[in-house]
Amino acid sequence: MFSDVKCQLPGPNSKKFIEKSQIYEPGGTSQHAPIVWDSANGVLIKDVDGNTYIDFTSGVLVTNVGHCHPKLVDAVQKAAAKLMNCYNFPTPERVTLAQRLVEITPENLDVAFMVTTGSDATEAAIRAAKRYTGCYEILSFYGGFHGRTGGAMSVAGTTGTKKKYGPVMPGSIQAPYAYCYRCPFKAKPETCDFLCVDFLDRVIEAQSTGDLAALIVEPYQGSSGFIVPPDGYLTRLQEWAKDKGILFILDEVQASFGRTGKMFALEWEDLRPNLLCMGKGLGSGVPAAAMMAESRIMKALEAGEMSSTNGGNPLSCAAALAVIDIMEEEKLPENALKVGGYLFERFKNVQKDVDILGDVRGRGLVIGLEFVTDKESKTPSGEIAAEVIRRCCQNGVVMGSVGAYGHILRVAPPLVITMEQAEEAADIIEKVLREF
Ligand SMILES: Cc1ncc(COP(=O)(O)O)c(C=O)c1O
Repeated sequence: MFSDVKCQLPGPNSKKFIEKSQIYEPGGTSQHAPIVWDSANGVLIKDVDGNTYIDFTSGVLVTNVGHCHPKLVDAVQKAAAKLMNCYNFPTPERVTLAQRLVEITPENLDVAFMVTTGSDATEAAIRAAKRYTGCYEILSFYGGFHGRTGGAMSVAGTTGTKKKYGPVMPGSIQAPYAYCYRCPFKAKPETCDFLCVDFLDRVIEAQSTGDLAALIVEPYQGSSGFIVPPDGYLTRLQEWAKDKGILFILDEVQASFGRTGKMFALEWEDLRPNLLCMGKGLGSGVPAAAMMAESRIMKALEAGEMSSTNGGNPLSCAAALAVIDIMEEEKLPENALKVGGYLFERFKNVQKDVDILGDVRGRGLVIGLEFVTDKESKTPSGEIAAEVIRRCCQNGVVMGSVGAYGHILRVAPPLVITMEQAEEAADIIEKVLREF
């Protein structure tokens, strides 16, 4: 037994902090279990009431190497005692990280630009694409999420991200993504031959002023509910972008560093984006993000034209270097593939018998469980997802939900999860689902 929940939730201590949080920091973003985290180790979280849970969130896909990995903690402690900030002067850590990132990404990406958050990385990619091409339009996708800063928000396609924020960045054009469970063309992936990519021509004919700079896309849509497109879709998109003479920006802020069972999700289709955004798992808990680029693109910018106060600070760089080492030494992408494959099959089996589980999809340790009132109508049900979250937490597994109606549960444990831990968590989730 890894999890061990002893009280009704929320426990008395959690309750106190939740009440305070509702007063002093109201407006949380997504549904989650009613607990207050106190500490965590690997895959296990302890709350302020002393209960232990299996973490199926990785704190929004961040702690890929597991919570408080001893090597990461050691690297951070040493770096903190040595040098924490130096603006954008080179440091050994920063230069080594830039070189390492260039070495592990596709060969066309030969320079790195360090930032602090995923939004910084996508914003930087949009800026670089505009300066290089001299054009200002950016094509993005329904259901896409690239952060909450102005430019990133403008290219979002998630429900509510832009609502009541006024005019978005001029030139923000959007088109359907390959969300096959709810295909807007009512097509089938087996036979459609990527109708949604062909449709992009119509979108551009109708909406572009002839100033298209780039497209930005996630390898799987994270915030919309782990929507994994069919194999070949991203290659077709990349070809389409090349054909149109625009840049291809891949947003792997969420998908990289082992999450899908490869170090980078782009490896599944051997993609060659012109700009690549990364964040979250790169620091695995320490804020760190980067944009990888082709040097010909960055040469279009004047020195100092893009900057970031905390981007590339020695502390974050030391953390990111430790993360890459841990990933390679412990073969975490391989583990994600093995354990993810097991979990995927378990949930697919459950889906056969459980009418509220409309869709199960994923790759590696990115598995989305989409809840509906029934399989026939496919009506999304956030209420069911919320109840599943509550019951799973009560039994020792912490999960979170996303999607337009909060109806999609994310199965995304840290990549260090063992088969035994995965089995225990799957038993709990399966029992909860079968009881519905
Ligand atoms: C694909 C993607 N891009 C960008 C971001 C924004 O990252 P951050 O919250 O670190 O700014 C996110 C965050 O969820 C994301 O999932």
